[in-house]
Amino acid sequence: MNKFHPEYIITMKDIVQEGAKILRKVTEEVKLPVSKEDQDALQCMLQYLKNSQNPEVAKKYRLRPGSGLSANQIGLDKRMFAALFDDGQKDLECMLLNPKIISHSLNMIYLPQGEGCLSVDRDVKGFVPRYERIKVKAYDITGQEVILKFKGYGSIVIQHEIDHLNGIMFYDRIHKENPFKLPENVDIESLY
Ligand code: NI
Repeated sequence: MNKFHPEYIITMKDIVQEGAKILRKVTEEVKLPVSKEDQDALQCMLQYLKNSQNPEVAKKYRLRPGSGLSANQIGLDKRMFAALFDDGQKDLECMLLNPKIISHSLNMIYLPQGEGCLSVDRDVKGFVPRYERIKVKAYDITGQEVILKFKGYGSIVIQHEIDHLNGIMFYDRIHKENPFKLPENVDIESLY
């Protein structure tokens, strides 16, 4: 049986931590049609996010809260991720395969408190510039092609996850000399 079968509960011991090679490589395209194995893994990943955002469940399993989880963070070399976040109006959940940013705004945003990551168990200070809006082409869990638009916090989460699939960590995007320095000649503002 595959490790990430439908009843499997992902906990912190399954989440690969920084330093691991799999977080630093460009991950492999997912083969279509979507296999049951990949679908199950994605459902487990989304369930992790739900559990982690539920205070009682998170406490029981000692989960760090997260808004996104990419397959390579649980050791799978595949271009897919799950995300769960409040887009400002409602809770939005998505499981996307082979995602690609097909267009983006010129203006950028950043989280004033900086970003965090389930694979980084320490505080990293600094601003991470992200596009304020993105349009993404991907496949959903059924293998259907979808085109989705994200803005604000959702856009930040999706860019963070797509970065993972390309071996990029959020702190790679923080200015090296001054972590609070923002890119010049770019229209960029704090999200909040
Ligand atoms: Ni992350």
